[in-house]
Amino acid sequence: MATNRTFTMIKPDAVANGHIGNILAMITTAGFKIVSLKLTQLTIADAQAFYEVHAARPFYGELVEFMSRGPIVAAILEKDNAVEDFRTLIGATNPAEAAEGTIRKAYATSIGENAVHGSDSDENAAIEGAFHFAGREQF
Ligand code: TYD
Repeated sequence: MATNRTFTMIKPDAVANGHIGNILAMITTAGFKIVSLKLTQLTIADAQAFYEVHAARPFYGELVEFMSRGPIVAAILEKDNAVEDFRTLIGATNPAEAAEGTIRKAYATSIGENAVHGSDSDENAAIEGAFHFAGREQF
């Protein structure tokens, strides 16, 4: 079932580099409404669980290490066609391939440290949102 919500994280690289405000501005300027928002930090176990789908991939260990190394911003966003439109806004996984005007083109430094997460399906958006936010935190 299509929904109008997606889930994002501003990753530790972008938080450490001072890009929280600029990235949130790109998100809201693109028409997304913020319905949940927090600064938090993943434990190793949290990052392992969040990215469990990638557990067999060669980059999994580095990904878990990176995602737990510092604070992140977690958010649930609302917009018509949220998942697809947000994937367009963040750009390709590898910033070298990301289009002009995308968040990763502006702020990602490498394929591993690529500034933002965006859910890849409505189902995962709901799972990932619930991973970070209790129902009463979703407005
Ligand atoms: P993936 O879900 O393929 O990309 P996206 O974040 O664009 O949905 O991969 C999840 C994360 O894993 C990605 O954001 C960064 C990391 N990653 C690597 O470090 N190396 C890689 O080769 C790939 C494909 C991903």
